[in-house]
Amino acid sequence: MARITKLEDIVSLCKRRGFIFQSSEIYGGLASCYDYGPLGVELKNNVKKAWWNSVVQMRDDVVGLDCSILMHPLVWKASGHVDKFADLIAECKKCNARTRVDHLAEHAEEHTEHISIDAAMAKEHDLSNKVCPNCGAVGGFTEPMPFKLMFETQMGANVDDSMTMHLRPETAQGIFANFRNVLDTTRVKIPFGIAQIGKSFRNEVTTKAFIFRTREFEQAELEFFCEPGTDEKWFEHWKKTRFDWYVELGIKKENLRMRDHAGDELAHYAKSCVDVEYKFPLGSGDWQELEGIANRTDFDLRQHQRGIRTLNKWFENNRLMDKIELAAEAEDYESGPLSYFDDEQKKRYIPYVIEPSAGIDRSALAFLVDAYDEEEVRGEKRNLLRFHHALAPIKVGVFPLVKREGMPEIAKNIYNDLKRHFNCFYDEKGAVGRRYRRQDEAGTPFCITVDGQTKEDNTVTVRDRDSMEQVRVATDQLRSHLQERLDM
Ligand code: GAP
Repeated sequence: MARITKLEDIVSLCKRRGFIFQSSEIYGGLASCYDYGPLGVELKNNVKKAWWNSVVQMRDDVVGLDCSILMHPLVWKASGHVDKFADLIAECKKCNARTRVDHLAEHAEEHTEHISIDAAMAKEHDLSNKVCPNCGAVGGFTEPMPFKLMFETQMGANVDDSMTMHLRPETAQGIFANFRNVLDTTRVKIPFGIAQIGKSFRNEVTTKAFIFRTREFEQAELEFFCEPGTDEKWFEHWKKTRFDWYVELGIKKENLRMRDHAGDELAHYAKSCVDVEYKFPLGSGDWQELEGIANRTDFDLRQHQRGIRTLNKWFENNRLMDKIELAAEAEDYESGPLSYFDDEQKKRYIPYVIEPSAGIDRSALAFLVDAYDEEEVRGEKRNLLRFHHALAPIKVGVFPLVKREGMPEIAKNIYNDLKRHFNCFYDEKGAVGRRYRRQDEAGTPFCITVDGQTKEDNTVTVRDRDSMEQVRVATDQLRSHLQERLDM
């Protein structure tokens, strides 16, 4: 039976080897915020590169974008986040700890993402038997109330021009707000997508699961615009494409599945949604969301057409949002500023949108968990990360067998040559076996060792992380040998 990886093993390895640290650790730490160390930042960059490569670079129908995190306040009114992006919470009367009602109901801290607030409010909630996860008191909760998830901040130095702004809770809205710009400045034609990777922020109520759910995180989102009526076809296309991406990058199929959202789970903008789920070793070891793929219909573009019509009212209201209602939709909305004119069919419409939305941190965690392995080698435990080569933070370790007889000089030359092509690491400290183990634990696919034979025949050993097999390779063949084996 396959060994089950525990989250503690991953957290401990991440700290020990410099993948991930608690934020502000020297001040005692900041809850649910994490920093990526020297190995972690390489892993995360490789996850982003692999996503960009698959979703943008290798396709002819997707272009990229990088939007600012702060956006016009009306964006979040139009998108529905100001009014609807909230969790239903209840406060324990004994200890004042606030907990998400759906998490109380399910006794599963790490389970669901945000369910629609309308559906949550409409439900009957009997909390009389529920236990406070903080102090253990039973049934002593306040009435459920909405808790807003967007972080607020102020923009502007003077009282007169200061505005309340929101840190974006998803990167998607920057894409919708630039839909017209991209249409007008590129040759894209529907069907096409706009992709972006960037930070998002949510004042999550429940955290406590390492980098699985944090208050600041990175998303990789694609908004794929298509003609209404073709949306189901593209939904299926993206479900398959995104599921396959994880498998191609080495996640074991038995740890991945697709799950359709139930009606009351759907976000306020979605007609249908499916999650790619991974068997994370959290809490009960249950399936958890890795990525959501939603059919957002024409909701967002239509809402932003209403948002634009609200601008005058917003200025009249001294740029305060409190009492502003979003303007009604124009009767001729289908020919509005965010509509699309199809040259061939000679018709105008508001496109539908299929959105695959992945979490970079959550993917990095899944790749770490899935790659983690322990085995016994000659009576000793060997920890290793069997990363797909594309994700490995370091591709090649270079060692002299011993620190004498000219071996370090030869190894340094090899290192200096190879590092122009791959991320390499030079190490001459301690026994060579220990150096191999350190690279195994970092997930480095290959280690090169310069030994006594090198001076005689200009060959070195190349050791494979997974099989631990070593082959001798001529030094002038090293680069092509590694390029071939790393597939780079
Ligand atoms: N634009 C759609 C959207 O934001 P979502 O399901 O709320 O949908 C998409 O988020 C993905 O972003 C999730 O599947 C998850 O991977 C990641 N994500 C969401 N909230 C997160 C959090 N608090 N911490 C880490 N990742 C998060």
